[in-house]
Amino acid sequence: MKIRKVGVLGCGLMGSGITQVCAEAGYETVVLEVEQRFLDKGFASIEKNLSRAVEKGKITQEAKAKTWSLIKGTLNIEDLKDCDLIIEAVVEDLKVKNEMFSKLDSLCPEHTILASNTSSLTIMAMAASTKRQDRFCGLHFFNPVPVMKLVEVVRTIATSQQTIDTCFEFCKSIGKEPILAKDNSGFIVNLLLVPYLLDAIRALEQGVASIEDIDKGMVLGCNHPMGPLTLLDFVGLDTTYNIANIMFEEYREKRYAPPPLLKKMVLAGYYGRKSGRGFYDYSGEKPVPVDLGI
Ligand code: 3HC
Repeated sequence: MKIRKVGVLGCGLMGSGITQVCAEAGYETVVLEVEQRFLDKGFASIEKNLSRAVEKGKITQEAKAKTWSLIKGTLNIEDLKDCDLIIEAVVEDLKVKNEMFSKLDSLCPEHTILASNTSSLTIMAMAASTKRQDRFCGLHFFNPVPVMKLVEVVRTIATSQQTIDTCFEFCKSIGKEPILAKDNSGFIVNLLLVPYLLDAIRALEQGVASIEDIDKGMVLGCNHPMGPLTLLDFVGLDTTYNIANIMFEEYREKRYAPPPLLKKMVLAGYYGRKSGRGFYDYSGEKPVPVDLGI
């Protein structure tokens, strides 16, 4: 099956990135939000990325204009009814996601594939809210979407081979590298990444080393582009807390349990880069480690 038009649910950090890469690859892309201000914010981020690419000579002004001509923002779910593929990237709330999937299931034609970019919920929990379980899968992108090459294509027990093949082709056509994962909470990457990030917080809690040295250890010792505490600030501590809780509920294993320090930081509003403060303070020119009194 050929994908021609893509729908994206949510224009936040992930949704705006997915919208950008789909449009850059030449797909007509419709992105849905609940309020105009969220669309404006997502569009400002796309504009920043595209302008930077023009300044660096990576794309032409014409290519940028072409990308924008393919993007349509909407507040009306009916505008997605003729999409061939719809990728959901809204809050990690099963009820919210399922309400949208159920509406789209009745609005869209037979062939439309529905996909979720969830980081930790199981895909089957969403597919079950539709009558197209064979045309339902996970498409898990990574932050920042325009830069990160990977997409996890997640197959449930009911996803058809045709859906998987179409999604693999689609991922390649937008310049991404797809890998196939089973529908287990966390798929491949978060299954391994989340315990690692939580262990870094536990190491800090136990006084193993300072914020800076834990990060430096993994950057210089393992050649990671970012240390774990910097990465936590980048992903968002609220997001990580949410993911860890979902994974802990699923597996009941200690390694997925959010450490108390993470919970306290979320309660304090230390969400990381997005709130200006997490393990680091981002108000100055360079991030500075926050004194957490440990
Ligand atoms: N959006 C778009 N482009 C961005 C960007 C952003 N937020 N941040 C950086 N870039 C681009 C820059 O424009 C630059 O592009 P260029 O090569 O064309 O000039 C390129 O990325 C490199 O950027 P910088 O030189 O400014 O900075 P770095 O070399 O430090 O790279 C990084 C930044 C790519 C974010 C790198 O630090 C990195 O790879 N970090 C790890 C990211 C990671 O692990 N992501 C996965 C998170 S987990 C996840 O998403 C799963 C979810 O379920 C939780």
